This record gives sequence, C-alpha cells and structure tokens, in this order.
Amino acid sequence: MRGVFITFEGVEGSGKSTQAKLLARNLERRGIGCILSREPGGTGIGESIRSVLLDPDNSSMDARTELFLYLASRNQHVREKVLPALREGRVVVLDRYAESSVAYQGGGRELGEKLVSRLNKFATAALKPDMTFLVDVPVAIGRRRKRTAELDRLEQERVEFHERVRNSYLRMARRAPKRIRLLDGTKPEEELEAEVRNMVDELLLKKGIGRR
Ligand code: TYD
Repeated sequence: MRGVFITFEGVEGSGKSTQAKLLARNLERRGIGCILSREPGGTGIGESIRSVLLDPDNSSMDARTELFLYLASRNQHVREKVLPALREGRVVVLDRYAESSVAYQGGGRELGEKLVSRLNKFATAALKPDMTFLVDVPVAIGRRRKRTAELDRLEQERVEFHERVRNSYLRMARRAPKRIRLLDGTKPEEELEAEVRNMVDELLLKKGIGRR
C-alpha cells in the first residue's frame, strides 16, 4: 500500500476530532493528498448506520447489535473509501477506527476485547493504521467539555462505562507503544498539534511522502 493510514482515538471530549482536523488541514496546505473521515460514518451507508447508533431514542439497543452496527459501518468505510484512497497513495486521517470498538464495546460494554479484535480483523480486511494517536483525558474533564443538552446515546452512559473505555484504551497503548502514541489531552491545543505534526512528519519521511 502506497498511502499512509493515521487514526485518532480517545474518550468523549478528549479533543481528538480537533486534532484530526488540524492535521488534515496542515497536510492539505503542504500539498500532501489526504482525506479526513470519521467512524461511525464516512460513507452514505455508514452515516445512515451512525444515526441509528447515536439516536437517544434507541435506548433498547442490545450491546451485540451495537457492536455489529459499528463493525458494519467500518467494513463499508474500509472497502468503499479507506482502501481505495490508500491505494492511490493518499494519507488517510480517521476520527475513530477499530480501537474505538475494542474500548467501547469490548471494554465499556464488557463484550471482551479479544472477541472485538477478532471481529475487527474481519471487518477491516486486517487493515491496521500506521500510526494511532490516543488523546487521553480523565473522564471527568472530557465530560465537562461536552454540553449536557446535546448528549447522544453513548454519551449518556454512566461514568463507570467511560472509565472502562479509557482504561481499555490505555491498555492497548501500553501493549503497542510504537504504533499507538499516547497524548496528554489536557495540554493546550497548539502544543498537541505540534506533537502530532512532528510524529507524522517522521512517519511520512519514512514512507517517502512529502519530501521536498
Ligand atoms: P464520535 O462522533 O467520534 O463522538 P465524539 O467524538 O463526540 O466522542 O463517535 C460517536 C460515538 O460512538 C462515541 O460515543 C464513541 C462511539 N463509538 C463506539 O462505541 N464504538 C465504535 O467502534 C466507534 C467508532 C464509536
């Protein structure tokens, strides 16, 4: 694969979406072909699945149903958008990917991280990111950054759920420290942006992209 695959992960209110956008904007400015996308969503089918997943009215959704919907969205995304872009040699930046399911459904919903990892493999043709940024913040800080009026179905979950999600993410980062880069999400936005840019530049250099 000629392209470069970069993902952002973290609990709600961590600032990962902002960092994903800042990175994509920076790459564009430098004339490096890139796409920014998100999960759940990213395709027409995926965005329809997203609205089912986040609808607060769907409070009766079983945890397994939830898992399969996230995986369905991901499968469509990978095959319709991510793999083609990587084949064209682009940088693909995703706001959430496979680790979200391991942390939220495996850890948060307690369906088991191993099971979710196996299903992820099936849904992604075993496609792994070249680099994943885990923007970590304590759950309480993340929640304070969100406005209560706008909470979606998952954001309405109790604090203990989000603590399990965070701990699951941190375990993954400890297991794969080379690929999963842990960032302190309580730092100022500009500082994080610079850290991300430095690590991405190193990766691009290694891959022979953006050299000028
Ligand atoms: P997102 O729009 O990224 O929410 P935010 O960035 O505001 O936290 O994701 C929507 C929700 O979906 C979020 O609560 C995390 C959850 N999620 C899962 O539970 N499993 C998954 O596999 C993914 C991709 C997201």
